[in-house]
Amino acid sequence: MNILLLGSGGREHALALKMSQSTQCGQLFIAPGNAGTAQCGTNVQMGVSDFEQIKTFCLEHAINLVIPGSEEALVNGIYDFFSEDAALQHIPVIGPSREGAQMEGSKAFAKLFMQRHNIPTPAYREFNATSYEAGVAYLQQHSLPIVLKADGLAAGKGVVIAATHEEALDEFEQMIKSAKFGDASKTVVVEEFLRGIEMSAFVITDGHSYKILPEAKDYKKIGEGDLGLNTGGMGAVSPVPFADKAFMAKVEDRIIRPTVEGLSKEGIVYKGFIFFGLFNIDGEPMVIEYNCRMGDPETEVVIPRLQNDLLELFSAVAEGTLAAQTIYADVRTAATVMLVSKGYPEAYEKNKAITGIPAPTGDQIVFHAGTRQDGKTILTNGGRVLAITSLAADLSLALVHSLQTAEQIQFEGKVYRRDIGFEFI
Ligand code: AMP
Ligand code: GLY
Repeated sequence: MNILLLGSGGREHALALKMSQSTQCGQLFIAPGNAGTAQCGTNVQMGVSDFEQIKTFCLEHAINLVIPGSEEALVNGIYDFFSEDAALQHIPVIGPSREGAQMEGSKAFAKLFMQRHNIPTPAYREFNATSYEAGVAYLQQHSLPIVLKADGLAAGKGVVIAATHEEALDEFEQMIKSAKFGDASKTVVVEEFLRGIEMSAFVITDGHSYKILPEAKDYKKIGEGDLGLNTGGMGAVSPVPFADKAFMAKVEDRIIRPTVEGLSKEGIVYKGFIFFGLFNIDGEPMVIEYNCRMGDPETEVVIPRLQNDLLELFSAVAEGTLAAQTIYADVRTAATVMLVSKGYPEAYEKNKAITGIPAPTGDQIVFHAGTRQDGKTILTNGGRVLAITSLAADLSLALVHSLQTAEQIQFEGKVYRRDIGFEFI
């Protein structure tokens, strides 16, 4: 089977490595990829939303399967582009249709969906330019803090937690009147603030049946102790200690099953990953967001624990035979520590030479995120540079192993958190 994987992060390196280990893997192409994916297959210089170029490539290279890593191509409708094109129809795309991708692409769409299917999620109201004055009145009487969310995709920056009414009103005005996030903030969701602990659940679905993958918790803040600016993610752990059988049974009964059944009943085509961003409030799960793809860096702990053949799962998704599959997870704990460039998530420098990356072993893999190869040298090429994943009998041990390697790898301006998983150690 020839495969095209779209993306260039640590998530894509983890997916590429896993697929390359399958006996069913023929040629594996990654567009645009990074220095790590180049060790699993062939990198191709192509944008993830250049659909015409992707079409030509797929036909020329007899591609049998397309895996969009991030939400971008999915929200832009790559699934529909393939299914509506006579020359591409035979090539399955692992992911939702454009409509299904709205579960991530529009917070208002996701909220309405959850309301229709009685899926637990914080109370909210939605406002736009027409209902602006009503929004102002609503904010003025709202309890603090106030959560404001740009409806559309805003590169992970669209959520603001305002501590005061002034801040909330100012942000509301900037989002709607000054188009702070462009079209993405034409509509704003104002949501009840939750107090609890976050985690993420993942499923893969063929549109009817679903399989639950290992869960994970990521650490979004740049600083230790969860302080400072939000990032794409500074590390992750799997499993999540509080996500025991009883909690996960609630997640499945109240959230996962109603979501997959709801999509199916409404005729929303969805054949791929669903990422559930959850809050645990005294043992009761609530959804704060859906994503239509795997998480990054969550994939770097979930995929190393997955003992299945990933291509077998993807084929089952494409053929609608997922019900017959069983998921097998490594009982060990995985912890990943992200090495990032100094300055990230704000301005940072690139093109720093990286040394000391160890070869993968049975209990540690260094996934590449923002890296590129120049001759024999590997250079930094992004804010998040490498994700060091270790597997061990417990979380403390896994973390210690990742931190040892974090120290050994060198590049100018290397920054990382030493406290990934801190609340569980
Ligand atoms: P999101 O972009 O939806 O993942 O939100 C970014 C972050 O904002 C989440 O990881 C949470 O930490 C926080 N957040 C989102 N919604 C809420 C909420 N209703 N209450 C408290 N925190 C929230
Ligand atoms: N790590 C969070 C995400 O992938 O959205």
